[in-house]
Amino acid sequence: MAMGLWSTVVIGLLPPVGWLLWRWNDVWYGLVMATLRSSKGDTKLPPGKMGLPILGDTISFLWYFKFLRRPDDYINSKRHKYGDGIGMYKTHLFGKTSLAGVHGKAHLRLRSFVSRSINQPDALRQIALAMQPRMISALQSWTKCRKITFYDEMKKVSFENIGMYFASIEPGATLERLKKYLAGVVSGFRAYPLNIPGFTFYHALQCRRKTQEFFREELDKRRKNNGENDQPIQDLMDGLMNIKDEDGNHLSDTEVLDNITGILLAGFESTVVVTTWALYYLAKYPNVLQKLREENLSLKSNKSELLVTSDEILKLEYTMKVVDETIRLANIAGFVVRVATKDFEYQGYTIPKGWNVIVWLRNVHTDPKNFDHPLCFDPDRWNGSMLPENFQAFGAGPRICVGNMLARLQIAMFLHHLSTGYKWQLVNPDAKVKYLPHSKLEDGLEITIEKL
Ligand code: HEM
Repeated sequence: MAMGLWSTVVIGLLPPVGWLLWRWNDVWYGLVMATLRSSKGDTKLPPGKMGLPILGDTISFLWYFKFLRRPDDYINSKRHKYGDGIGMYKTHLFGKTSLAGVHGKAHLRLRSFVSRSINQPDALRQIALAMQPRMISALQSWTKCRKITFYDEMKKVSFENIGMYFASIEPGATLERLKKYLAGVVSGFRAYPLNIPGFTFYHALQCRRKTQEFFREELDKRRKNNGENDQPIQDLMDGLMNIKDEDGNHLSDTEVLDNITGILLAGFESTVVVTTWALYYLAKYPNVLQKLREENLSLKSNKSELLVTSDEILKLEYTMKVVDETIRLANIAGFVVRVATKDFEYQGYTIPKGWNVIVWLRNVHTDPKNFDHPLCFDPDRWNGSMLPENFQAFGAGPRICVGNMLARLQIAMFLHHLSTGYKWQLVNPDAKVKYLPHSKLEDGLEITIEKL
């Protein structure tokens, strides 16, 4: 009898408990937390669903990104369900996303230093000359292999270049160690923040710690060599060690370590992934390759030396359109995250203080309202002027990518040497695409390559 009563109670409780679990985050964050945090109390949140406790909407995100491999349908599913309306939906992703970094004046000072060192015409001129020899010799060496995995090979070239230019680390075992740590950090970029051994996020944090230790040793070595004197500036790391504010204070050691790690992370993988996509699209669109080759051969035929200058490359109109079109379609920064530092209203809805705002850049680049046949690789779409709000691959505002010109230059320089000297074929023309932590070909772009 007692058993029967218990069963009835348990069965009776299942639907409300199930409903509460299903709506937990909506009740907790949407009603309780938002109302408590909002200074006015009359919080009207954007439409959307915030999912299960702890996991939030992560399962749906992974479903579209990892299993269906249709990342755009994650946001499209919300559009269909809640309407296009204000184009903003509440959700709960990646547990609590945390952002590190400097703000305000300190951020501006750092940005302007980094920009001067790697992204402005004088720096680009030097970098162009320093980086091409490795690209040229890598291309020559690949023709001796039966096939190569382009992404892996290009990563070696690019990392040797930025390792030398940013931190004066010679190619070899030490650089390989650093590359392994940074790859570990990158793998945790979109991982669920479970800091438990065996999980990607835990591994990424361990790799980040090792990267910091790596640079800590380097920093101590440089300090020991120079005593109290300012570091003679040989590379980006020296420059970071020397930056002073208006009161003559240097960055703290932690800031130097955070920044050299951050810049290497930002520049390490992004350009290689986009270059890999460029080879893929050019192989699929021979008419585009033909035009690119003609433009670059015409530059080459007017020169006596092999190396091109950054000024020459950045003036190649069609090549730069190919680069921008690849960056648009590669969508490697699918979204960027900001934190609301105070309650604010947007089109009648409240964004409560402390909430993350995830700006879905992917959607800007794949929305047919912004681009005709958005998934088609068509550099000629850049013929007219592009509305800045339709091209956000490098972000926007005060945090816009500080390596955007460097990235475009590196990709274009490589395409110059590739298209004027080599032809290549995809080993797996139908290779699948992975979308996490960012969009990449699953086979790493296996190609055969030979001299023209
Ligand atoms: C095609 C390649 C690249 C793409 C698509 C890209 C994209 C982005 C995006 C979207 C942001 C903004 C992040 C945000 O708003 O939160 C960003 C920031 C940044 N990027 Fe890039 N990036 C690329 C290459 C590079 C390179 C080569 C470097 C330097 C070596 C670099 C350094 C940085 C840095 C330091 C920031 C932070 C800027 C700040 O917080 O003020 N990026 N990048």
